[in-house]
Amino acid sequence: MSTQPRRQGELGPTGRPLPRIAEPKPVHRHGPAKVLALCNQKGGVGKTTTTINLGAALAEYGRRVLLVDFDPQGALSVGLGVNPMELDRTIYNALMERDVTADDILLKTNVAGMDLLPSNIDLSAAEVQLVGEVAREQALKRVLEPVLPDYDVVLIDGQPSLGLLTINALTASTGVLIPLECEFFSLRGVALLIQTIDKVRERLNPQLELEGILATMYDGRTLHGREVLARVVEAFGDKVFHTVINRTVRFPETTVAGEPITTFAPSSAGATAYRDLAREVVARCLAG
Ligand SMILES: Nc1ncnc2c1ncn2[C@@H]1O[C@H](COP(=O)(O)OP(=O)(O)O)[C@@H](O)[C@H]1O
Ligand SMILES: [Mg+2]
Repeated sequence: MSTQPRRQGELGPTGRPLPRIAEPKPVHRHGPAKVLALCNQKGGVGKTTTTINLGAALAEYGRRVLLVDFDPQGALSVGLGVNPMELDRTIYNALMERDVTADDILLKTNVAGMDLLPSNIDLSAAEVQLVGEVAREQALKRVLEPVLPDYDVVLIDGQPSLGLLTINALTASTGVLIPLECEFFSLRGVALLIQTIDKVRERLNPQLELEGILATMYDGRTLHGREVLARVVEAFGDKVFHTVINRTVRFPETTVAGEPITTFAPSSAGATAYRDLAREVVARCLAG
């Protein structure tokens, strides 16, 4: 797999001319953060991988980034070298206990400018316990609000379900990114996800926007891969990011290493792809 040079007018993998997006200008003042939720109720589509690597690429571009592990599996925390089982307090405590703040549980990552709110299996109890709370959909929003001035972007790594944790992630966010695996059944369930986003927008969070669909685990050498991607573009048009993430074993390797691909293999095609995505995200969601 080689990095393809981006020439204007050249067709990208999504079949549209690739835009040339300049490196984002440095920012001199930070915050208040835009909050983006990475959602798909299907597991294994690249939510966690995208949260880590998009976050790291945005941090390379000088953005202050906060990652929120909002999956009881704690894969985001593990992917950043944190052992979730050793944590005394996690996002669960910030959600459920009035005297625990985001600052109390915040961890620095090895990437300069990128912090983490970790989670572990405790978070699975929140799904049940929040049901009895007042404003149960706003619990995460309440936790994040005090730290938004410190960051340019917050990325929430969602769990693979459409339950109350996902509703909390959507209620706390300004936008949603949907990673979609370039496999046959990937479009199944997306209509339900979009309905859920629409409901949250109507009832809880009028500012919520679907910011983009990211095609992941793409193999352009197979007809199958190309067909699925064409179908995704047919269904979602301009919502589909020009950047497509290829399938490569480098990503599972980074999980074992506990660091983003941008530092683990800085000049790899995977790192380049997430930098391309970061530029698109800045232009689309963070500008202005
Ligand atoms: N582009 C990719 N190519 C190959 N493997 C990938 C890619 N992106 C993610 N993976 C691997 O696929 C698995 C699922 O990805 P993950 O990001 O954890 O998905 P999710 O958070 O949606 O469940 C992980 O083992 C991850 O390392
Ligand atoms: Mg995950």
